[in-house]
Amino acid sequence: MAILLNNDGHWHDKWRAAILKYLPGRPIVEYPNVPEPDAIEYAFIWKHPAGDLEKYPNLKAVFSLGSGVDYLDAFPILPDAPMFRLIDPAMAEDMALYTLYWVIHFQRLFGIYQTQQKQAHWARYPTPLAPAFKVTMLGLGAIGSHIAQVLAKNGFDVSGWSRSPKDIEGVKCIHGEDALFDNLPQTDVLVCCLPFTKTTYEFLSLSVLSKLKKGGALINISRGAVINEEDLLTLLDSGHIGGAALDVFHTEPLPRNSPFWQHPNVHVTPHMSGATNPDTAVQIIAKELADFENGIMPRYRYIRSD
Ligand code: GLV
Repeated sequence: MAILLNNDGHWHDKWRAAILKYLPGRPIVEYPNVPEPDAIEYAFIWKHPAGDLEKYPNLKAVFSLGSGVDYLDAFPILPDAPMFRLIDPAMAEDMALYTLYWVIHFQRLFGIYQTQQKQAHWARYPTPLAPAFKVTMLGLGAIGSHIAQVLAKNGFDVSGWSRSPKDIEGVKCIHGEDALFDNLPQTDVLVCCLPFTKTTYEFLSLSVLSKLKKGGALINISRGAVINEEDLLTLLDSGHIGGAALDVFHTEPLPRNSPFWQHPNVHVTPHMSGATNPDTAVQIIAKELADFENGIMPRYRYIRSD
């Protein structure tokens, strides 16, 4: 019985090597060449085409190779087999360091110094120390809460916002829209780590983003569709939002004609803030698969919310 592998077609050699290392003896079948659909017992997938999993009658479980599950939300029907999200502490740490880098960038005005260097211009400006620099994290799931704690441990004044109440050491947890609207005018950097769902679609639009402190910055590491990109551009052009580090976009790859590429206050990265590391991910999946075969349900089961 075999493992079906599809990481959206990327880096299959690395996934294959990790599977051979942590799940030795299990044949690997790379999508889309599946000569014997009956032989597929487990699927290790990311952004897999909707409808394909129905072709494997002996499928026992599905392990997603990423933490975001919006591609599963888009499946019109789900297989009978249980599906599991990947929550990898190594990925959360990677994303925390990405976020910390940009928070420091905005706190220490590195964008201004980059511009000044091009003009051979020497001038320095006072900047707040970390405890006086307010960061608000949107979304306190496994990843968002870890990032919030890393920022807090580095001395920043961190609030975390979620729809339901949370309690996270070192982080001022707030919930509900009123609390968010009260908090935004004091926020220096807003970090978006919200999952993309029907309720978060373009949640960051003019009505929310315009409440951010004038000159404040935005970091988006969740999904592009959580932001209304037109509204963000309007606020960047007016200077209300002073800078943005954007890792995710409505359309990926970001089209060449997107104004984000050329915007002087925007930093574009190609959805790399937390790329899954096959070695750490397969170690986690191998443990979950062993639990599953022993009748223990892995913790992060994907359950469709609607
Ligand atoms: C990447 O975007 C992921 O959801 O793992």
